[in-house]
Amino acid sequence: MRQSSLVVVANRLPIDDSVAPDGACEWRRSPGGLVSALHPLLRQTPATWVGWAGGTGPAPVLPDVDGVHMQTVPLTADDLRDHYEGFANATLWPLYHDAVEQPEYHRRWWEAYQRVNQRFAEATAEVADPGAVVWVQDYHLQLVPGLLRELRPDLRIGFFLHVPFPPPELFMQLPRRAELLRGMLGADLIGFQRAQAAHNFAQLATKVLGLPATDRRIGVQDRVVRIGAYPVSIDTAEMAALAGRPDVTARARRLRHDLGDPERVILSLDRMDYTKGIEQRLKAYSELLASGDVKVRDTVLVQVAMPSRERVGQYQILRERIEREVGRINGEFGRVGEPAIHYLTQPFDRAELAALYRVADVMAVTPLRDGMNLVAKEYVAARVDDTGALLLSEFAGAAAELDQAYLVNPHDLEGLKQGLLSALRAAPGDSGDRMRAMRDHLHRHDIRAWARSYLSALDDTGSLLTRLSSTG
Ligand code: G6P
Repeated sequence: MRQSSLVVVANRLPIDDSVAPDGACEWRRSPGGLVSALHPLLRQTPATWVGWAGGTGPAPVLPDVDGVHMQTVPLTADDLRDHYEGFANATLWPLYHDAVEQPEYHRRWWEAYQRVNQRFAEATAEVADPGAVVWVQDYHLQLVPGLLRELRPDLRIGFFLHVPFPPPELFMQLPRRAELLRGMLGADLIGFQRAQAAHNFAQLATKVLGLPATDRRIGVQDRVVRIGAYPVSIDTAEMAALAGRPDVTARARRLRHDLGDPERVILSLDRMDYTKGIEQRLKAYSELLASGDVKVRDTVLVQVAMPSRERVGQYQILRERIEREVGRINGEFGRVGEPAIHYLTQPFDRAELAALYRVADVMAVTPLRDGMNLVAKEYVAARVDDTGALLLSEFAGAAAELDQAYLVNPHDLEGLKQGLLSALRAAPGDSGDRMRAMRDHLHRHDIRAWARSYLSALDDTGSLLTRLSSTG
């Protein structure tokens, strides 16, 4: 087994499972943009990515990608149902997102979660060099740091949570709360998106485990575990370059024409998820149409909703409700050849996505709760001429940084309607200033800056960081 000095562990591998005819694998943009963040580093050092390749059955053997070894972890059909769809996405996901849907607790799901985390820890232990840096990602794998430390105390272990970490009142519901906290505390450094999450975690470490804790450090036996906020970002320069390409600009013009050359285009782009506030947004839009504040002829809404976790009951119900509502709104307010909402569930390639961002005068990102929301950041990065307005939920992690956006509380229907109207009617000078400030921020705080700041805190011997900075 080949050994690596840097190991990234995530539920999903960062590559497309459709291997090209010549057997080559292409980097796929994994959700959260981890690939672009780590790409420069992974190429410079013997690195392995441990993850699930999708599907069930024996783990496929995948070719290296740009010199990075892909170590697949298999899931059985039971693991898929009870670990991924069950404990990860029907217990933790709703609980961590303010319980906007009811989290379900089943002992069988917890058993599967433990079993799969153990499998990931063992796979990681096999491929890590002595003293290697291991970076474990997200809520699917919260037990891995603790399990891995038992197997390999020599490793430097980091954990990063991409989703929100809830306040004690919610987390305390979890039947196995102590085990989950202990699992995360196996890490040397635990990263969160927001300072509030680190605060919640510190409070719980004291409340549940009786450990001495501040918002920066937690004492665990003879170790100190550091915690902190490291807001994840995007490859700002790459998105800006893509959005500025002549073919993308031409595609945006054509899209606008195909939409009937309206005065204003509003875009929303979400994974089909109950945390994204799609229903609340549709209701606000429908009321603005009914009151005549927004007219179908002048304004179009493009709602892209990418199907997600389709076998989980709450997701199926959500999709039916959204599709019924889109149908109702189009039936009531659309005209022949002029729908009120252009509703799409198909995947887009990056260039098409950039063209959509460029055509959107207003981007409406209004989740009820979101760890970060990289779509909001991508939109800003794509507005290379500093036009456009971002309508952003206060409950998205991105709001802590993009405070020049039109911020709204998506639970407040009147506030949501007013926010949308303000964004639609924004004076070009005002929205230009806001966009410029946000773009500057994202150029300084891009995904490489994120990886660098996290890894420099994790790897205080500095050996990996030296390699990262030498690659820009
Ligand atoms: C969120 C999570 C990621 C996850 C992504 C897509 O962004 O933080 O870990 O990969 O959603 O969800 P999926 O269930 O398709 O992996």
